[in-house]
Amino acid sequence: HGTAKIGENNHLWIGGADTVELAKKYGTPLYLYDVSLIRTRARGFKKAFEEKGVGYQVAYASKAFSSIAIIQLMDQEGLSLDVVSGGELYTALQAEFPAERIHFHGNNKSVEELEFALKAGVGCIVVDNFYEINLLKTLCRQVNKKVKILLRLTPGIEAHTHDYIITGQEDSKFGFDLGSGQADKALQEVLESEFFEVLGIHCHIGSQIFETEGFTLAIDKLFSHFAIWEDSYQYFPRVVNLGGGFGIQYTSDDTPLEPEQYVMAMIDEVNRKMAQFEGKSMPELWIEPGRSLVGDAGTTIYSIGSQKEIEGVRHYVSVDGGMTDNIRPALYQAKYDAYTANKMNDKPAQTVSIAGKCCESGDMLIWDLELPEVTDQDYLSVSCTGAYGYSMANNYNRIQRPAVVFVENGEEQLVVKRETYEDLVRQDVPLKSKVFV
Ligand code: LLP
Repeated sequence: HGTAKIGENNHLWIGGADTVELAKKYGTPLYLYDVSLIRTRARGFKKAFEEKGVGYQVAYASKAFSSIAIIQLMDQEGLSLDVVSGGELYTALQAEFPAERIHFHGNNKSVEELEFALKAGVGCIVVDNFYEINLLKTLCRQVNKKVKILLRLTPGIEAHTHDYIITGQEDSKFGFDLGSGQADKALQEVLESEFFEVLGIHCHIGSQIFETEGFTLAIDKLFSHFAIWEDSYQYFPRVVNLGGGFGIQYTSDDTPLEPEQYVMAMIDEVNRKMAQFEGKSMPELWIEPGRSLVGDAGTTIYSIGSQKEIEGVRHYVSVDGGMTDNIRPALYQAKYDAYTANKMNDKPAQTVSIAGKCCESGDMLIWDLELPEVTDQDYLSVSCTGAYGYSMANNYNRIQRPAVVFVENGEEQLVVKRETYEDLVRQDVPLKSKVFV
């Protein structure tokens, strides 16, 4: 992926930097990000909209990896930002990301989070449910502010990578159901309120999707419904946000499309559906990719440690991280490719399984991986760990979260420091002897 290549010294190089040298300098586990690949992905999404002359926003779903530096990078690339919590919003503001390009999501935003978003002046709030409509009305009344919103809809299409389940009544914790009349009732309520500027609608059908069909099906359902809204409420959305979910290639089993291919298919389908809306101009199309912007730009470098061979059964090779820095294999049976970062050209000599260091049998990163002979002097690189790796990292077993380093054109920068032991006990409060004698 991207700028990854094998250097003359047989090492894995990324962004013009020797990953083994970086591992030695910053310690392991270490997340590395190929910054130019992130830029390529961002520009790919934007280019497709620009070529077709369609108004758009590409909002980075920061849940995939939120930190000040990555948000600054997305700002440099002119993207918008999707945040789903006060914490993600705070991080964005610390990065001085323009509030008007921030979209605030969530199925249970708290009063404090909504007040924070209103005060910050976010570009829009993606309203998820009736409770939130009322809450937001009350809060807007208190500060006498009008807020831009999208209504999150569940169109009854759910993508499971290759399959689409079409359900009448969508069973989802998110959004207003399109089929049951919920969405209509919600629209009526928000249109009647003086506190809302109803920009349009949002829908997100799933994640790690390899085909365009799920998106075009969703577009069909939504636009057919817009015809009803036109008749009943004389309302036609100015913005249609089609969510994220564009797949990436973790292993050779995965067959994603290029970013621009998803966008082109969406635009074509919207154009087709627009034919029935005479005199109406095409809504702005917004998307919110997370994984496809940062996923394959990330690589984790581990040090190899202990090994255990059970003759004829399995050869375990342990690394100095695991489910604390990448919970996806344990949580979703996610598959990854890996290499010996300091012996890239060495021929595979054995089939091993990569174990994490947590006290839990389920802490396995990769099953049945072909590797050369390795020792505790070697480094393992796991590819495509840029999305939902650091952002889902945790301190299980009181393991410190790793450092994150950006590389581009031979330059490197530490962007998240490795946690220390002190960090691990920072929020702890020792017993007071007067209370617990
Ligand atoms: N927009 C909404 C409303 C979402 O719920 C999500 C992801 C995205 C955008 C971004 O989706 P992406 O482009 O990254 O697929 N932790 C899981 C993924 C959970 C995705 C949740 N929502 C994983 O590691 O695979």
